[in-house]
Amino acid sequence: MSKPVKAIPAERLPELLRRMPKAELHIHIEGSLEPELIFALAARNGVQIPYASVEELRKAYAFTNLQSFLDIYYAGASVLLKEQDFYDMAWAYLERAAADNVVHAELFFDPQTHTARGVSMETVIDGLHRACTQARLELGVDASLILCFLRHLSEEEAFETLEQALPFRGKFIGVGLDSSELGHPPEKFARVFARCRELGLHLVAHAGEEGPPAYIWTALDLLKVERIDHGVQSTKDPALMQRLAKERVPLTVCPLSNLKLCVFPQLADHNLRELLDAGLCATVNSDDPAYFGGYMNDNFLQTFAATGMTAQHAYQLAKNSFEASFIDAKQKDAYYELLDATFAAFA
Ligand code: HPA
Ligand code: ZN
Repeated sequence: MSKPVKAIPAERLPELLRRMPKAELHIHIEGSLEPELIFALAARNGVQIPYASVEELRKAYAFTNLQSFLDIYYAGASVLLKEQDFYDMAWAYLERAAADNVVHAELFFDPQTHTARGVSMETVIDGLHRACTQARLELGVDASLILCFLRHLSEEEAFETLEQALPFRGKFIGVGLDSSELGHPPEKFARVFARCRELGLHLVAHAGEEGPPAYIWTALDLLKVERIDHGVQSTKDPALMQRLAKERVPLTVCPLSNLKLCVFPQLADHNLRELLDAGLCATVNSDDPAYFGGYMNDNFLQTFAATGMTAQHAYQLAKNSFEASFIDAKQKDAYYELLDATFAAFA
């Protein structure tokens, strides 16, 4: 449990949530592509998209589950062809993150979505990495990249993707596992993750978003991941809850994503508060902010308004975000100090 935080009147909580420094650890950079940028890149690259206008595209964002979202998300990414496109997308996100007082971000990217269309791995990684480097210098946002394997594709394709990415090993810090969860359990990628582990890469995986708690167990035991992305189904399994709390396995929770993909019927039903109160290292993240109606601070503000969480929860969530990040202990201490100073100054 973190140290006690002084009570703050409910009407001042939104300001504190906005102002506190935080890390974002679950953002698919392709999910930050706003409809306006999709149309601009389509025009720049001469790519046809099956929507007449920005408004018509936005109207299509009415999802019933993960797959209904993924179909539109992969279609949106089809406008990305050049290094500059990847840079522009990541830069737009990083500017938006800085405005929300995100001081550290670990960005997922899906190379297979692009290499399948003939875009080279180098184009993808160089564009994203250039934006991350510039963000450190110009925005004060420390940003790094995590390569995700698409779990609906084969193990062989994941190995090929890893091979293609290895020449750029210095430009990404880890690997993850995303896309359609049901029917694609973690064990399908046990050998790929074992290889990534040998290479010294950090390991994460989506598990327990729509899939059962069993997928969280296998992500931990067979893939040996350091964090679970989503993990909200863990409250169905008391033994798993105990383990996650005891080992402080971070969960990168994405409340607005869960709402838009109908994982919970309403935000008031979300189990984030239950996860925190049970002592888990839960964090708040935006997942695919252009599609789910909000960036980091929107996620914090709407979730706190719906669940009645307090300043103590806010402090814990921000602290957890740094604890869960892939930075060294010294850097973590510096962020904890920054967080403490922000809370102390908030009179
Ligand atoms: N789940 C799985 N795959 C994804 C997601 C998600 O929330 N967003 C982008 N790819
Ligand atoms: Zn995700």
